[in-house]
Amino acid sequence: MDASGLMARKTVDDIVSGGEAESQGLSRTLGPFSIIAMGIGAIIGAGIFVLTGTAAAQYAGPGIMLSFVLGGVACAFVGLCYSELSALIPVAGSSYTYTYATLGEFFAWLIGWDLILEYAMGAATVAVGWSGYLTSILKDVGLVIPARFAHAPGTAIEGGTALFNLPAVFIVAALTLLLMRGTKESARLNNVMVGVKLVVVLSFIALGWRYTNSANWSPVIPENDGTFGHFGYSGVLRGAGVVFFAYIGFDAVSTAAQEAKRPQKDMPIGILGSLAVCTILYVLVAAVLTGLVPYKDLNVPDPIAKGVDVIGIGWFGALIKLGALSGLTTVILVLLYGQSRIFYTMASDGLLPKVFSHVHPTYQTPYRSQAMIGVCVALVAALVPIDILGEMVSIGTLAAFCLVCGAVIHLRRSEKGMKRPFRVPAVPLVPILGILSCLLLMAGLPLDTWLRLIIWMAIGLVVYFTYGRRHSVLRRKNGTAA
Ligand code: ALA
Repeated sequence: MDASGLMARKTVDDIVSGGEAESQGLSRTLGPFSIIAMGIGAIIGAGIFVLTGTAAAQYAGPGIMLSFVLGGVACAFVGLCYSELSALIPVAGSSYTYTYATLGEFFAWLIGWDLILEYAMGAATVAVGWSGYLTSILKDVGLVIPARFAHAPGTAIEGGTALFNLPAVFIVAALTLLLMRGTKESARLNNVMVGVKLVVVLSFIALGWRYTNSANWSPVIPENDGTFGHFGYSGVLRGAGVVFFAYIGFDAVSTAAQEAKRPQKDMPIGILGSLAVCTILYVLVAAVLTGLVPYKDLNVPDPIAKGVDVIGIGWFGALIKLGALSGLTTVILVLLYGQSRIFYTMASDGLLPKVFSHVHPTYQTPYRSQAMIGVCVALVAALVPIDILGEMVSIGTLAAFCLVCGAVIHLRRSEKGMKRPFRVPAVPLVPILGILSCLLLMAGLPLDTWLRLIIWMAIGLVVYFTYGRRHSVLRRKNGTAA
C-alpha cells in the first residue's frame, strides 16, 4: 500500500461546502429541545430494557449500576469530541465523514465498515429485544408464540432447542418496508415517542423504588467466581462493556446537523444533554431493578417486566411493556435508516457499489440498499442470540469512537486556524482519556468478541483493497486509483 492510499482525504472545506449544497431543501427547524429529544429517542432502547438484566445476571450483579457509571464517563469524553467535530463540520455526516476529512480514506473505510456493527447489527440486537417484549405481551393476552420460533437456533427451551426468531424478522421487515416508502420521522412524532419512553422509565423508577429490598443489593459487587469478567471488579468492567450498548445512539444526533437552527451551539447541547439525561436514568433504573429482583433471576428477555411483577400492579406491567415495545421500535427505525444513509455516502464516494446510492424516483429513498440491509439484518436477528449481538455492537462502536477521539487530536494540529465554535477542553488530555476509557471497556469484553471483531475488520480490508480502493471517486480525481 502506498502512502497516498492512506493519505487520500477530502478537505474539511470540501465536505462542508458539499454538505451545504446537499442540504438545500433541508430546513433548519430543530432547536436544542428537539435535538436532545432526538438523542434520547435514539439512545434508550434494548440496552436498558434488555441487556441490563443479562449483564447483571451474568457479569456484574447489582454492580451493574457502577457499570453504567463507567459507560457514561467513557461516553462523556467521546461525546465532547463528537461535539467539537459536529460543530466544526456541521454536515449530515457521521464519524465516517469526519474521518474522511481528518485521517483519510483508509481510516474512513475502516470506520464505515465498523459502523455496520453499530447500525445494522445494532438494529438486529434491538429487534431481538423487541421480540422478547412482544412475546411477553402476547402471552399476557393468551396468545403464545411457540418458543421454538421466538429465539435463536440452539437456545435451550422446554423440550428441546429453538429454531429461529420470527418476531424479530417481522419487525425488521415491517420497518424496512416503511423506510423504503420514505416514511419520514417527523421531529414531532419522535418527541411523542420519546415522551412515552421517558414516562415509562420515570414511572418505573418512581413506583419501583418503594418496593426495593436492600438485601438484594448486598453485596453490591458479588465475589468473583474465579473467571475474569464473572462478578467482582472484572465483572463490573465486563458489564460496562456490555451495557455500553445502552449509550449507543448519541452520535446519531450529529446526523441532524444540517437541520439544526444553530448547529454550532445546539449540537454540543444535544449530544451532551441527551447523554447526561440517559446516564442518570440508567443508573437509577439499574438500582431499582436489582433492588426489586435478585440479580440471578434477571437473565430473561424482558427484565424490566420482571421487576414490574414484583411491584404487582397489573396495568402498570402492561404499560411498561407497551412503552418498551414502542421505544425499541424507534431505535430500530433510526438504526436501519442510519445504516442506509452511511452506505449512501460511502457509495457516493465510490467505496461501495453504486446500488447503495441508487435513489427511488418517486419515494426519494435508497430503497434497494434499504431492502438489502433489511434482508441481512432480519437474517442476523433470526439466527443470533442477543448477548453475542450486543457485545459485537459494543466492541465495534468502541473501536469507532477511538478513531473519533483520534480525529480531534489530529485536526487540532492539521487545521490549526479553523474557527471552532465548540472546543473540547484540555486537548489532547480529554480525547486521550476517551480513547483509554473505550479501550478499557473493550478490554473487559470476552475473547470471542475480540476474535469476531478482528475477523470482521479483516473481511473489511479485503473488500477495501479489492473494491473500494479501485473505485474511489477521490482517488480517481487525484489520479491515484489502484
Ligand atoms: N442505545 C440503543 C439501545 O439501547 C442502541 O437500544
